[in-house]
Amino acid sequence: MAGPSTSVLFVCLGNICRSPMAEAVFRHTLIGSPIAHRVTCDSAGTAGHHVGEAPHRSTLLVLREAGIDTAHRARRVTRDDFDRFDLLVAMDAANVASLREIAPAETRARISLFRDFDASSPRGSEVPDPWGNPMTAFREVYTLCARASEGLVRELVARER
Ligand code: 4NP
Repeated sequence: MAGPSTSVLFVCLGNICRSPMAEAVFRHTLIGSPIAHRVTCDSAGTAGHHVGEAPHRSTLLVLREAGIDTAHRARRVTRDDFDRFDLLVAMDAANVASLREIAPAETRARISLFRDFDASSPRGSEVPDPWGNPMTAFREVYTLCARASEGLVRELVARER
């Protein structure tokens, strides 16, 4: 079935821990949904310190435990991303603030917090930065990404009706 397509960019600070997890989990969640072939996604960081790097080993381990692969390499968000992506989905409030600084004014409404798609989370909830923390923190990020991905897929399906 042909139809409009939607593109989603997941954004965190370094693009090595949370947003590559979000991107991979969201892509996995899309499998089997009626919009699977009409949604594309990527991830990027608001800072450039890790550009070109593979995701953090704990992100890779947690994804592997869930049977999910990723070939992502870190990159930094650019102004062009606001033209290329319909939705910019941030992990925390600092990411939203950084995105708003570089966003063309008319695109600011397309920036959201990832956990705002999870109806079981209070509005404004963040995906906490696991950088420097043990595996349990990365497993928590995975759980939050899985819930928010379910909600985002549901929202995108509803928008197409
Ligand atoms: P991320 O985590 O934003 O989830 O990728 C971080 C990765 C690296 C740094 C901070 C957060 N850092 O300061 O290098």
